[in-house]
Amino acid sequence: MIVDKVLIVDDDPGIRETISDLVEELGYTARTATDGVDALTLLQDESYLCVFTDIMMPKMTGIELIKRIKAWNVSLPIIVITGYASLEIAIDAMKYGASDFISKPFKVSQIQLMLSKVKREKLILEENKKFSDTLQLHRLIDNLVGQLEDKNQEISSLQAISEKIISLKGIRDLVSAIVDVSKQLLEDSEVRFLPLNRKTWRLIDPENGHEHVIDSELLKGKIVRRNHSEKYIPRIFNTIFPLMIEGQVFGTLDIHSNSMLGEEKEGKISYLLNRTAERMENVALYEGLYENMLSTLNSMAKILDARDPHTSQHSTRVTTLSLAVASSLNLPQEERDVLSISASLHDIGKVGIPDSILLKTDNLTDAEFEVIKRHPDIGADILTPLPPMARETEIIRHHHERYDGKGYPSGLKEREIPYLSRIIALADSYDAMTSDRPYRKGLPAEKACEEIRGCMGTQFDPDIARVFIDKIREE
Ligand SMILES: [Fe+2]
Repeated sequence: MIVDKVLIVDDDPGIRETISDLVEELGYTARTATDGVDALTLLQDESYLCVFTDIMMPKMTGIELIKRIKAWNVSLPIIVITGYASLEIAIDAMKYGASDFISKPFKVSQIQLMLSKVKREKLILEENKKFSDTLQLHRLIDNLVGQLEDKNQEISSLQAISEKIISLKGIRDLVSAIVDVSKQLLEDSEVRFLPLNRKTWRLIDPENGHEHVIDSELLKGKIVRRNHSEKYIPRIFNTIFPLMIEGQVFGTLDIHSNSMLGEEKEGKISYLLNRTAERMENVALYEGLYENMLSTLNSMAKILDARDPHTSQHSTRVTTLSLAVASSLNLPQEERDVLSISASLHDIGKVGIPDSILLKTDNLTDAEFEVIKRHPDIGADILTPLPPMARETEIIRHHHERYDGKGYPSGLKEREIPYLSRIIALADSYDAMTSDRPYRKGLPAEKACEEIRGCMGTQFDPDIARVFIDKIREE
């Protein structure tokens, strides 16, 4: 009979409580200790399935506790609790015999996986007791060596992923990291990641964009195994793993292989996915910050619109028009995302122009016009400190360039001007022409189109202008 008691050692009462709640939820009995000394006393009184321990604690460090426990009972599994940043400490702890590590946020599924692994290993050890001492020792060593190799592989996979995260551009990078690592773990298998479209609840095939129905078992977080032996295709075994984030399916890892993966390989892939999901939550947090930053910039654009009542809603209309042209041009989604941000922020630099000039209704003097002409550079300067906005920065800087090179601020011409800036320039001019001003009424759409036609090749990119005019006329 296997004991189901788990000891949690941490000086932080919040962490003790969270982990012990999760452990109890899984049907195990949790005991807690506030430090290493306390833990050693408890361990002498009762048998435990495993120990979860923090590293930085008063009285005795986690590393010291691991050494003491291992000196007394080498087979008691110890799982280290770490912060996000302390992968190195966790690896260090493993050198002293810790068998695994767990970092915040703690997940039921992750703890469940760890505990069932600990239990399985314990069963093997109990079984071994039936054999002679020598045999037991051999199997124990084999088992430990195997575990150590697995662990090394896992750590290097994790390190590979951690490194990718540092250079991350987003969740897309992480997904390709999982596919790469899985391919390394499973030789001669075909590995693909299919993201879930959360609007249609169907899986998207990355190769052709087609959507497939998702197996309901996957939505419950279960692995689906299929055998396609009736079809004459290579790699007839299909194993599909759900990638769960915050308990929700994010996509599936679809593996085709020549033989069944088996429990061990499945375990490794699940482990890898769970660890990656944890990291993804981190990335999502980062992307959340990015979204936050965008919404701050957008509110700046709105403030700008509000400051100049004659141009209110200008940024919004320029964005809508630019995106309409992008769809006629069949631009990929990524380009449209960049365009949307750039168009909505194209005049952000006007925050740096004094009201006396910006709101002036009479003709501007040359000197005043020179001040106005600074707004694309000011806008670009506002965005420069934000590395994820590098492309948007350049697009905004050049939204007043002209196709013939007579624009500002850099006098770029034709293809030197970023493509998306050329689209915004059209939408911007069209909206300025068709909007009412205190000193004049806006032009009707058809008249504005004629103006644009007259400036094809001088002010505007002729190819984009043709598409633009067609788009306006069809509305
Ligand atoms: Fe502008």
